[in-house]
Amino acid sequence: MMIDQYTGLYCVIGNPVRHSLGPAMQNAAFREKGINAVYLAFEATDAGACIKGVRSLGIRGLSVTIPFKTDIIPFLDEVDDLALRIGAVNTVVNKEGRLRGYNTDAYGALMALEEKTEVPGKRVVIIGAGGASRAVGYILKEKGATVVVSNRSQVRGMVLCRDLGCEFIAPDKLHDVHADIIINTTPVGMSPDIDKSPVPEKIFKEGMTAMDIIYNPLKTRFLAAAKARGCEIVNGLSMFVYQGAEQFRLWTGIKAPVEVMTAAVEKELSN
Ligand code: ATR
Repeated sequence: MMIDQYTGLYCVIGNPVRHSLGPAMQNAAFREKGINAVYLAFEATDAGACIKGVRSLGIRGLSVTIPFKTDIIPFLDEVDDLALRIGAVNTVVNKEGRLRGYNTDAYGALMALEEKTEVPGKRVVIIGAGGASRAVGYILKEKGATVVVSNRSQVRGMVLCRDLGCEFIAPDKLHDVHADIIINTTPVGMSPDIDKSPVPEKIFKEGMTAMDIIYNPLKTRFLAAAKARGCEIVNGLSMFVYQGAEQFRLWTGIKAPVEVMTAAVEKELSN
């Protein structure tokens, strides 16, 4: 890759950020499309200071990750409507000095799910009530699904249900919940705690679709149990790549090379 005086800079800000797969994925996409740009990871402590840097250095775009997805909002010039409703921005586009925030997590989840199942009219149970759950819940409702949220903390779960206008189900009632699609948005089952699952295994019935937003490991205990009981499964890698592909499109106006991005992330995960 040629780096010169015209090279555009994109970055991810977060903390921690050293485990991020974003650089491998986005740099592979820039290379594939012959775009003179690089994508770097910055472990940051202050969202406002980062935005000052973006403006003064002419950084062309940002990925925003934990813990800045909400904190960044007041520093932007504009925020896309869906991102505002979700209350989280994971993408910033610098268009001639004006900074606009978007949320592509929601789009990523939808694209990943739609590879395996239709969404309109489906009953979706979402486990967890954090930022990821909120993004997934909003977009699935918008696409005509009926959403049900379950969360360890009942208060947090009910606040999200009030905002989404959906039903809450307590975790101890999950064993006989009716669902077409079940989505895990909690970190339960993530490496190194790979023997844990956020739901009882008998929740899974043949014909359902199970999606996990965790991508390390690729096949979580949640997905393995779902597969063993005859469900379609969607792993977290798919959502991660699609949210990144949408970022790439917003930054460059070019359709992202999804296969190349997937291969780059798989390679990084296998290292
Ligand atoms: P994110 O923004 O990535 O969604 P988050 O805001 O930290 O992350 O939310 C994590 C979600 O996982 C929350 O719903 C959390 O439940 P609580 O609201 O009860 O904290 C859930 N979660 C985290 N660890 C969990 C565990 N060990 N068992 C069950 N749920 C857990």
